[in-house]
Amino acid sequence: MPATIIIGTQWGDEGKGKVTDWLANEMDMIVRYQGGHNAGHTVIAEGHELKLHLLPSGILRPNITSVIASGLVIDPEALIAELDKIKEVGIADPNLIISSNAHLIMPYHRLLDQAAEVKLGMSKIGTTGLGIGPCYTDKASRVGLRMQDLLDMKIFREKLAVALEFKNQVLTKIYGMEPVELDAVMDEYSAYVKRLKGMIGDTSRVINEALDEGKNVLLEGAQGTMLDIDHGTYPFVTSSSPIAGGACIGTGISPIRIKRIIGILKAYTTRVGSGPFPTELDNETGETIRSVGGEFGTTTGRPRRCGWLDGVILKYSVRLNGLTEIALTKLDVLSHFETVKIAMGYKHDGIVYEHMPNHQTVFHKCTPVYEEMEGWQADISDVTSFDKLPKQARAYIERIQEIAGVPIAMISVGPNRTQTILR
Ligand code: GDP
Ligand code: IMO
Ligand code: MG
Repeated sequence: MPATIIIGTQWGDEGKGKVTDWLANEMDMIVRYQGGHNAGHTVIAEGHELKLHLLPSGILRPNITSVIASGLVIDPEALIAELDKIKEVGIADPNLIISSNAHLIMPYHRLLDQAAEVKLGMSKIGTTGLGIGPCYTDKASRVGLRMQDLLDMKIFREKLAVALEFKNQVLTKIYGMEPVELDAVMDEYSAYVKRLKGMIGDTSRVINEALDEGKNVLLEGAQGTMLDIDHGTYPFVTSSSPIAGGACIGTGISPIRIKRIIGILKAYTTRVGSGPFPTELDNETGETIRSVGGEFGTTTGRPRRCGWLDGVILKYSVRLNGLTEIALTKLDVLSHFETVKIAMGYKHDGIVYEHMPNHQTVFHKCTPVYEEMEGWQADISDVTSFDKLPKQARAYIERIQEIAGVPIAMISVGPNRTQTILR
């Protein structure tokens, strides 16, 4: 049985949590493949609104195996806090497996992330400040600590001592901060072992065996295509690979095992943090989108920057991810506008770019070339079939589908499970 991937096609927060939860109905296993608790995926189920950061969005369903795969960076304190949170809604003993290869976010990663942002000043990336970048840096530098190190605290201590020797030099000499004490970290992380050790396993094997047995496996991406470290708006990106290709690396399954790649596309665009954003609306329209769409960060609470849908990014996302279908979310939020716009190209220095420019200066300085369409100005949040949508809303969906060249298989008109239209 082939696997399905869910990916964000924009700058994150497209509604991956809602769509994953919706698809969970037909799944046996849901796997997170990259990122860390910088993600914030909202799931509304059985009367609870849950904001998940590390746990896969199927965790509330007792029949689903949840997997945190090798590509993640895990802050054990944040993970335990999330496990406690789901206990409150009745999931005391979730069926969760965590990769022994996933990297551990350490206290110095958080400190270095925040200190680097302060040092950058106006040029800051606007990270979540949770230590994601420094943890992936250590992974690539081969000095990271991993989940499996929690199973042998003697080795853990040795590796930590080596890491601290260097990290403390940076913290004290470059940033003028206090050093991190070895014993304090040992005490803190030793306390996490009891809670987590029974969940640590070989997730590549678990996922591959599930696929061999014909189980339905969903690989849930975090962040989005434009935050991808290789293909996003570098350096204003995260430090992992949210694109579809990242799912194989992050899980340890072969590309030949993937069949469906579902791109989650918000009916407009948002971004949290710094960096270029051609269709951004720094005006009343942008504010209306923010307030109607509730566009405030799930993880940090920061107001999200809002703007019109970007067709250039959409085409780029289709290309990079090989999308087989699209789930269009938050269409209801656009019901307020007389007209809606889609960027069809970027103008810079008298040239119109119809594809993603391959130099960042163009992307930073361009002006979007818009196509304007009639709005529908009607409440669509209770509509349950495509045919019942106002004709202007249908035209907007058809136009997006035409630009993408990929079927829009699902349309979301509200945060609840029931507010979903299948085509
Ligand atoms: P994710 O990071 O991609 O999972 O997205 P977030 O959960 O960070 O942000 C999406 C927000 O929009 C959440 O608050 C969802 O409950 C909400 N949401 C999802 N789909 C819809 C929709 O179709 N309409 C509306 N109005 N809200 C939605
Ligand atoms: P979900 O999964 C939106 C952004 C941060 C910052 C940049 C780098 O909910 O879609 P990091 O802390 O990762 O080093 O920050 O990436 N960012 C997100 N923006 N949604 C997310 O996740 C994000 N995760 C990171 O705001 O601009
Ligand atoms: Mg989010």
